[in-house]
Amino acid sequence: MRSADVVIDFLEAEQARGVSHIYLDEGARDGLRAWFRRSKQPRAEARIAPSSPAVMAELPAQTDTPAAPPLQVTAEGASKVERLASLRQQAANWAPARSLGTLRETMVFATGNPDARIMLVGEAPGYEEEKKGEPFVGPAGQKLDDILKAMGLSRNEVYISNIVKFRPATARQTTNNRKPAPQEMAACLPFIHAEIGIVRPACIIAMGGTAAEGLLDLTGPVTSMRGLWHDFKGIRVRVTYHPSYLLQSGANLAIKRQVWEDMLTVMEELSMPISARQRGFFLPKS
Ligand code: URA
Repeated sequence: MRSADVVIDFLEAEQARGVSHIYLDEGARDGLRAWFRRSKQPRAEARIAPSSPAVMAELPAQTDTPAAPPLQVTAEGASKVERLASLRQQAANWAPARSLGTLRETMVFATGNPDARIMLVGEAPGYEEEKKGEPFVGPAGQKLDDILKAMGLSRNEVYISNIVKFRPATARQTTNNRKPAPQEMAACLPFIHAEIGIVRPACIIAMGGTAAEGLLDLTGPVTSMRGLWHDFKGIRVRVTYHPSYLLQSGANLAIKRQVWEDMLTVMEELSMPISARQRGFFLPKS
């Protein structure tokens, strides 16, 4: 806890006890003036160090203030677009995520159609997404575009988002990305929950284990999560491999077909038209 917080906690506790005035000697007042001046300096951290023995003598060794209630996201506005914009604004400075110090600065929210019947959820933005401020625009995003095209859809017809809204940081980071940690996911989860509540898609596709873990609390390999319907607050969820896994698996037709079967199941669920040609995508040539 910062020294300033200790002082503030102490003063609030005194106020709660009914104390309305606190005597400060000249040394303590000098100390406060110095903190105030430092807090006004640009770039100076709002770090307040109680240097005066008179103040220090008044401080309790430990404060027992109750924990602050968890922050809640609030989606304000009359339309879906307004409510999503309100979420986006809060996400940019979301203290539970920012305070971790392990996520990068730029917030990447979501893209697509707020009235979409299909919502696709990934894990976190990477290098390209951070540069463009939009989810799934790098190589994995191009693979996702291919999948959507095969389904007869464009990016504007679906809603695309991530569990984590900031690119996870690494030491000496260049273009390399990393998977978000559980605490990074937990810090951002209120947003994807609120987005789902606003968009209310007919179906969610969780892309990869991180999305499945965040949304459905599932652990283990994606293989064990595929092939069945899951539920998120009454919305049907299908888990499939992350598009970057498809990129890694290169020409592996079996993996492509598995992802495609997941998409066919979603299309059937939503009564989308499916041609015989589409049904045969990625089947081995006989
Ligand atoms: N991978 C993700 O999970 N999300 C993105 O936005 C990009 C790559």
